[in-house]
Amino acid sequence: MNKRTFAKSLLLCATLGWAGLTVAQEPFKIGLIVPMTGPFATTGRQIESNAKLYMAQHGDTVAGRKIELIVQDDGAVADTTRRLAQELIVNEKVDVIAGLGLTPLALAVAPLATRSQTPAIVMGAATATITEASPFIVRSGFTLPQVTEPMAQWAAENDINTVVTLVSDYGPGLDAEAAFKKRFTEAGGEVIDSLRVPMANPDFAPFLQRVRDESPDAVFVFVPSGIGSAFMKQFESRGLSEAGIQLIATGDVTDDDLLNGMGEVALGVVTTHHYSAAHDSELNREYVAAFKESAGMRPNFHGVGGYDGMHLIYQALEATGGEGGGKALVEAMKGLSFESPRGPITIDPETRDVIQNVYVRKVEMVDGELYNVEFDAYEAVKDPVKAAKAS
Ligand code: PHB
Repeated sequence: MNKRTFAKSLLLCATLGWAGLTVAQEPFKIGLIVPMTGPFATTGRQIESNAKLYMAQHGDTVAGRKIELIVQDDGAVADTTRRLAQELIVNEKVDVIAGLGLTPLALAVAPLATRSQTPAIVMGAATATITEASPFIVRSGFTLPQVTEPMAQWAAENDINTVVTLVSDYGPGLDAEAAFKKRFTEAGGEVIDSLRVPMANPDFAPFLQRVRDESPDAVFVFVPSGIGSAFMKQFESRGLSEAGIQLIATGDVTDDDLLNGMGEVALGVVTTHHYSAAHDSELNREYVAAFKESAGMRPNFHGVGGYDGMHLIYQALEATGGEGGGKALVEAMKGLSFESPRGPITIDPETRDVIQNVYVRKVEMVDGELYNVEFDAYEAVKDPVKAAKAS
């Protein structure tokens, strides 16, 4: 072999070796299913933009695997979510499903995740039982009982003795209603009525009229992200504040995505939640600035669920040395602890829910914009429903 052919064969070997490597290192696919149209489009827009920001900041290669994000719009229709998940798993052979903005959408995917051993990272949906629907579900957001019990506790400690609860009539609303009643009653308060408003096209007027007639110290409200503005308009026009009825709620109502457009009626509303764009940490300030720059809007709590969910996926893939595999990824996510823009968080290894601080906040005007300003915190809160079952 002369020098030239030797060099050529070296090159060939290198090329073949490289080709072999690229065959083994197929892209790692994430199927992100979110509502991008309809009344919950804000949720999809937030989660998608956050996933993209995370990738822009952390690169699109993890442990030698190229990350491919496939975004699909389910329009918040559970049958569509199920079909899209099926197609992504069978045809695209995605390694992970993610997104899932509402409870019925997450529940529609659970049996598919179990059957195909595909991890499903629930970034939005927040009914407590969702993680029990499949051992392949890991949550990066929150649960309603987790953020509601602190509201009940705070209310009881702050001269609120009687409450009417008013919630959207489906999973997370029923969770919020039960959690509020349990903790508020234990703390000495009285829930004098529990109202449930239909989930689709809600007309709050007759329910608010009833609250007014019953004249409690406060009305406790849960509506899902995207609906808060419609609620606040009707709350204002029914004159509940003038009647001396205080509004308390989970942070879903004063959602950062819509809050600034709600106007003066929102000022002073006290809520409890796990994330505010006004959270006072250096990491959060940097994150909010980067998100505003890339997406042209404020992040909300669903958005942070999307951002942190991507972190879980990146960390787990790294931990498996790029190997992946449904069971190994879920195992690697259990017990992960890190600082999120919302504060310190841990994936509870028992329940695959997030253990996190829940903050008490009040809507205030800051530099000409409305924000949920945190003024107290309940630290390292677990989902209380599962904690009670375990004890
Ligand atoms: C849900 O459907 O689980 C859900 C949606 C929006 C929220 C909270 C919960 O703000």
